[in-house]
Amino acid sequence: MPRATSVYRCQQCGFASPKPGTCPDCKRATGELVPLVEERAAPAPSGRRAAVAAGTRPVPLADVAMEHGDRTLVGIAELDRVLGGGVVRGSLVLIGGDPGIGKSTLLLQAARALARVTPPVLYVSAEESAAQVKMRADRLGVAGDGLLLWAENDLSAVQVELDTIKPRALIVDSIQTVFLPDLESAPGSVAQVRECGARLMTLAKGRGIATFLVGHVTKEGALAGPRVLEHLVDTVLYFEGEHHHAYRVLRAVKNRFGSTNEIGVFEMAARGLVEVPNPSGFFLAERPADAPGSVVVSALEGTRPLLLELQALVARASFGTPRRTVLGADYNRVCVLLAVLEKRAGLPIGNQDVFVSVAGGGRVVEPAADLGIVIAAASSYLERPVPGDLLILGEVGLTGEVRAVSGVEPRLRAAAQLGFKSALVPRSNAEGSLPLPVKGVASVSDALAAVLG
Ligand code: TYD
Ligand code: MG
Repeated sequence: MPRATSVYRCQQCGFASPKPGTCPDCKRATGELVPLVEERAAPAPSGRRAAVAAGTRPVPLADVAMEHGDRTLVGIAELDRVLGGGVVRGSLVLIGGDPGIGKSTLLLQAARALARVTPPVLYVSAEESAAQVKMRADRLGVAGDGLLLWAENDLSAVQVELDTIKPRALIVDSIQTVFLPDLESAPGSVAQVRECGARLMTLAKGRGIATFLVGHVTKEGALAGPRVLEHLVDTVLYFEGEHHHAYRVLRAVKNRFGSTNEIGVFEMAARGLVEVPNPSGFFLAERPADAPGSVVVSALEGTRPLLLELQALVARASFGTPRRTVLGADYNRVCVLLAVLEKRAGLPIGNQDVFVSVAGGGRVVEPAADLGIVIAAASSYLERPVPGDLLILGEVGLTGEVRAVSGVEPRLRAAAQLGFKSALVPRSNAEGSLPLPVKGVASVSDALAAVLG
């Protein structure tokens, strides 16, 4: 038999705890010690009776009514597109990214835009003081109408205040710096991040508040904190880009309310993030036109394809042993590939200095970039440029064969979104319907003939 369970509830704010005592939320908010009152819950019905009590029955798939999420267009087109056509009421959106990439800037701009359509909007800054946020807001030209700013990191205090403010949208910057005082662990710890995430989920769903969370990303690209946060929230967006470059890409990696194939492109300017409606032109504008030695490859990080410019410079060695200098790729791998280029494609580069680097401080460690490295070196040696709108994919073996790579579809799709017109891929990958026109090659010599003539 299921046992009756007790919960202890605060009669002022509704805080519930499995243990008796006083309400930590009210103590925090008003300093008052409010005793929790025991509520005896009826024993949970079990089995068939539980399902009947909850009013659920299996229904034919065809009869399931579609719920049209109550969507609001934020007013920043690039963000709205990635969200799947605006933000859904009561949804929880997590925005991850490296520190300093522009998450706070993006969300402050989103908060301003939302405050125009669905005021009031509450921006909780747990990282920066109100004055710091105000400074950024002034720089961005964000007016205060309908936008409330609060430098607070106690989530239970925020919860209490939600009843008076009744915001339509809530922004929490960041999930790693807010905390619940009834948990003993420190802010940013796994337990705190998980509990804060769960509490915000309940608040968002229960009150229909569109909630945005900022999350920091570790060096390895995972969201700092428990993975469970990514499972819990409705949407996970990553904001990424190179610090030295102005362009930033917003990418959906999970979206319960839309596709994860969309990206939004922004440029970080002196007065905040500016939308880039034509990313292809913008992205290609950063690259030298028709420069020998420059190719574009795709690095697939987890499920996220990232296009990178790979450069090679091959120059006659001035003295002694030729040098090989590699930045952003594996040194030994590059040496092997240069040997394959010499032996299998007959390019005499053994007496040449070779420098290989990934532009913008990026890194490619995948074999899928092999063919790009080989072609970049050949292009520099032969002084013949590679078409700027061509993506190069392929692993290269020691006999000069070009081997299949994984994730061709998402890589080509990302390239197509950024305005690429075609791709050079391993022959075994060149089948089926792909997002870009492709040319399949089986060997390094094939590839050189196809691209450099
Ligand atoms: P920020 O939004 O604070 O990054 P995050 O919240 O992801 O840590 O933005 C950080 C960088 O953006 C900072 O180095 C300065 C730059 N920036 C601009 O170039 N222009 C601007 O208008 C703003 C507000 C920031
Ligand atoms: Mg920030």
